[in-house]
Amino acid sequence: MDGKAAGRAVSLEKGIAPVTAVCLYSDYLQFFRSWVASPLRVAAVAPSGDALARLMTSEIVPGDGPVLELGPGTGAFTRALLERGLRENDLTLVEYGSDFARLLEHRFPQARVLWMDASQLASYDLFPAANVAAVVSGLPLLSMPPRKIMAILAGAFLSIRPGGGFYQFTYGPRCPVPRAILDRLGLKARRIGGTIRNLPPASVYRITRRQPFGGLRRSSQAMAAQA
Ligand SMILES: C[S@@+](CC[C@H](N)C(=O)[O-])C[C@H]1O[C@@H](n2cnc3c(N)ncnc32)[C@H](O)[C@@H]1O
Repeated sequence: MDGKAAGRAVSLEKGIAPVTAVCLYSDYLQFFRSWVASPLRVAAVAPSGDALARLMTSEIVPGDGPVLELGPGTGAFTRALLERGLRENDLTLVEYGSDFARLLEHRFPQARVLWMDASQLASYDLFPAANVAAVVSGLPLLSMPPRKIMAILAGAFLSIRPGGGFYQFTYGPRCPVPRAILDRLGLKARRIGGTIRNLPPASVYRITRRQPFGGLRRSSQAMAAQA
């Protein structure tokens, strides 16, 4: 959440619908309501702010390929992706909250919005070409059991192309993916930055493969099947 944006339009370029004070207020209200109804799933009382959204999307380049967003909520990171010049129809948004999924469909009509649990990614062939350039995750990994975190990462890396990254933010002091899971899946995590202009302050990690594509794809398939 970033108080600076309140009360004025913040995204006017490239034909992106402006965020008005009314829109921000209704996002905060919807977020708060969803958090009250499902605190573990939503895990934040307000949407992420502009500074965190910019950091989360800072390495993603328009035209590089499809982008998968997990847990978009009201679309704070989605909007930042569009502001970077990505095309809306290059975005797939996976959201488990039905209220958020409806709002996203309405707000981003050209994106593919899927109302589903991100831990089921491996059950659907969403990207047959395995060409996803990046995954942007707002998922509350700290409130998830290790088995679920492993299923999410294993499923996501089945679709991420060689060299692609999985971007995850956290309010905690270290990467929210336990070291044992990174090791098992042949992944590595690097902190790319942090911002204090978010409530609470947050860090962003980029998770990538350690080993050649073929090996990891096989181990991800095996892990996804087990998880
Ligand atoms: C901390 S909020 C982040 C929302 C948004 N990305 C932001 O930063 O403002 C977590 C989001 O993940 C969604 N979520 C939680 N568990 C999920 C799951 N298993 N599959 C898909 N979405 C999930 C929640 O409904 C919520 O929208």
